[in-house]
Amino acid sequence: MNSKPENTCIVIFGASGDLTQRKLMPAFYHLFANGLMPDEFAILGVSRSALDDLAFRDKILAALSSQEEDEPAKRDSFCERLHYQPLNTADVADYAELKTRLDVLCPQSATGGNTLYYLATPPSLYGIIPGCLAAHGLNVESPGWKRLVVEKPFGYSLASAESLDSEIHRHFQEHQLYRIDHYLGKETVQNLLVFRFSNGMFEPLWNRNFIDYVEITGAEFLGVEGRGGYYDGAGAVRDMLQNHLLQVLAMVAMEPPAAINADAMRDEAAKVLQSLQPLTEAHLKHNLVLGQYTASTVRGQVLRGYREENGVADDSRTETYVGLKLFIDNWRWQGTPFYVRTGKRLPTRVTEVVIHFKKTPHPVFGNTALANKLIIRIQPDEGIVISFGLKRPGAGFEAKEVTMDFRYEELGETNMLTAYERLLHDSIKGDATLFARSDAVKACWKYVQPILEYQQNPQALFGYACGTWGPKEADELLQRDERKWRFPCRNLTNTEYCEL
Ligand code: BG6
Repeated sequence: MNSKPENTCIVIFGASGDLTQRKLMPAFYHLFANGLMPDEFAILGVSRSALDDLAFRDKILAALSSQEEDEPAKRDSFCERLHYQPLNTADVADYAELKTRLDVLCPQSATGGNTLYYLATPPSLYGIIPGCLAAHGLNVESPGWKRLVVEKPFGYSLASAESLDSEIHRHFQEHQLYRIDHYLGKETVQNLLVFRFSNGMFEPLWNRNFIDYVEITGAEFLGVEGRGGYYDGAGAVRDMLQNHLLQVLAMVAMEPPAAINADAMRDEAAKVLQSLQPLTEAHLKHNLVLGQYTASTVRGQVLRGYREENGVADDSRTETYVGLKLFIDNWRWQGTPFYVRTGKRLPTRVTEVVIHFKKTPHPVFGNTALANKLIIRIQPDEGIVISFGLKRPGAGFEAKEVTMDFRYEELGETNMLTAYERLLHDSIKGDATLFARSDAVKACWKYVQPILEYQQNPQALFGYACGTWGPKEADELLQRDERKWRFPCRNLTNTEYCEL
């Protein structure tokens, strides 16, 4: 992580938007402050707003002033490398000015033509910008490389994702494309791979013979906040399941890659996604639960229902919760259920994977055999817990469940990169390992497409009060199999401190 990327010109489309201020600029700045940006670079913000370089720098400076690294000299030095070009992004003629600007800026930073285009715009422009760049030769990889970073959502359905993909591929080749899924940038998601493939003791057990079932939870306490307009057209299946949770699932379930590089890793992830058992209507009827949050008071806070949120239709049938039991049709996982759930306005924010091992074949200590659990906490209070049975002290041989835990905090790394920092750094360096590849994205859309169709069914949506773990039907999903969801506290190990 300490190598410096090559000198680069970075062009951000959508530069006056929220994503640029909240995520991208703080991430670039943090990389800069930690010596991880190229020796020479220029960031050119592009959007419709009529700003000039100075006004743009002021805007970014204001966004950065809330950053932890309060080093005005560094901030000023970073801001000197920011530039701005007003542009109607959808008008191909305007790109002539962009080209002229880059022809001046890039030599000043000795970038040798290396250019990273970042699409932080509304998704409707993802298919348009690559064509406009190409019309002015701005996609040509000589001199220097040209890369295109595309934000989510990549498509809205299988058909729209395929057509967006072929539109972009007309002008940029796959090796130039970096599709962001910020979950892949999270340290703890990457740790899934290291944990699985750098330890000999887990791999022999990591299959249908020893694992009873797997739970993946992506819970949020927040509602849709100010994003009702976007969310009402998306819903939890598109917003979280199709991308983030399926990527996490791929990391849990994939075969060991031959090497840790973009091709080998992404080959294995794609194979898992392509092996997901196709969802039929009959399966969905019994194994899918969609929910929408309703008003409630949680820990003294009055929370409105989803339909009362700004930008959401009064009669919206958009799901804010999805719970699904699914299977992977391959040798490793055949018959092992994966229970996946995600939702907004659940009791707390927690993302975790729980591996439930099979019980001992015969319960010699008492009537009930214990089942070992491995909990991989992705956020917050990142860490890993293993639960197992020990003798309860005293007379007899009663078994009691105890835990061994590791918490990331104990590593004492104060300077961990955030997901955006890691991904931006990788994209400048040309490492696509943690970006979603075309075949994987299509496999995810293909997989969820039957859910998008099933949703039209009027019986498919259940209400749940804010601050609960989703509709009761989601509990029944596991109860039918004589199982239950783990009840995760915000705090991984100390169950006495729990928001619930
Ligand atoms: C985003 C979704 O991609 O991920 C949001 O659009 C969601 O709705 C967010 O809240 C969750 O990310 P994180 O990193 O907070 O778990």
